[in-house]
Amino acid sequence: MNMSVPMPVTLDVGSDGGFAVSVRGLAKRFGEVKAVDGIDLDVARGAIFALLGPNGAGKTTLMRMLATLITPDGGKASVMGHDLVAQPHAVRASIAMTGQFASLDDDLTGRENLLMLSRLLGFRGRAARARANDLLAEFDLSDAAGKQVKSYSGGMRRRLDIAASLVVTPDVLFLDEPTTGLDPNARQAVWRMIRAMAAAGVTILLTTQYLEEADQLADRIAVIDHGHKIAEGTSHELKSALGSGCLHVMLADPRRIEDAAAVLQAKLGLAAQAGVADASLSIVTRTAAEANEAVGALIAKGIELAAFSMGSPSLDEVFFALTAQHIGEVRDDV
Ligand SMILES: Nc1ncnc2c1ncn2[C@@H]1O[C@H](COP(=O)(O)OP(=O)(O)OP(=O)(O)O)[C@@H](O)[C@H]1O
Ligand SMILES: [Mg+2]
Repeated sequence: MNMSVPMPVTLDVGSDGGFAVSVRGLAKRFGEVKAVDGIDLDVARGAIFALLGPNGAGKTTLMRMLATLITPDGGKASVMGHDLVAQPHAVRASIAMTGQFASLDDDLTGRENLLMLSRLLGFRGRAARARANDLLAEFDLSDAAGKQVKSYSGGMRRRLDIAASLVVTPDVLFLDEPTTGLDPNARQAVWRMIRAMAAAGVTILLTTQYLEEADQLADRIAVIDHGHKIAEGTSHELKSALGSGCLHVMLADPRRIEDAAAVLQAKLGLAAQAGVADASLSIVTRTAAEANEAVGALIAKGIELAAFSMGSPSLDEVFFALTAQHIGEVRDDV
């Protein structure tokens, strides 16, 4: 991507250790719900960092606090060296967030929307037109530029939404579920844009429920559940922390599924995840020998297998193992 606005330069590295985003003990509750319950994060400048978690994990709440849209109840955070609470204007000047311009005007064309924003943000005359046209080209919307936004598909609208947040190139871009609901092609297009923005020096913090998305895009992933960070690392680190492999079994008799899950859990100390087929289970394993023993234990219990295989764990399987472990820890504490 060819960013035609010069990158803002921030010289003040300050007490944030040079991180684009630095978070310590950040917390937010809504009534009884601890939406974010003391999270620490450091996002390196220029990185793509993913917050991965299920519905209600606290991802949006964390991001909205970092974008100064809601005030934290506790903890500290800085964005590009600016304190979230003490210097909210400076924070706002260095960020952009999708959704912020969700008020794209449906009756205007894509070009008119970007032109209007460019003018609002200080571009004049020819410069505003050039900025709008550059963004339309970068986001593959030139052909649709003259059409009203209400005629756009979900993917086109999402791209225009992201383009609108980049009229002025931010230091840090927050993307809350940038590809939810998009078809595979549109998702790939948004991924390409995210990678191009990172290559141009923009730090990107995104939330996703798609394990594959975090795996594909992010330099680093924090797994969030119930307002807590339950794991953090590269995709590779997360996979290898739990196990190097994943055992998939297909039972001859689907009625034995609960017995089989119990045997696997007892043998491997992790929860087994039910597969798409109702007679299948998968479970993260540390070694191939361990997987072998687990298969042996199933057979010893008279649980017949139609098939079994070993593979690399997907982030999905890693996430399941992590959250199941976390639930186990919470129960142990009770
Ligand atoms: N404005 C609000 N008022 C009351 N409760 C809220 C509010 N915003 C969020 N919550 C609650 O806080 C928790 C975390 O919500 P949040 O939207 O941050 O999760 P999320 O990880 O973004 O989930 P999703 O994947 O569904 O977008 C949930 O239990 C949610 O119901
Ligand atoms: Mg959310």
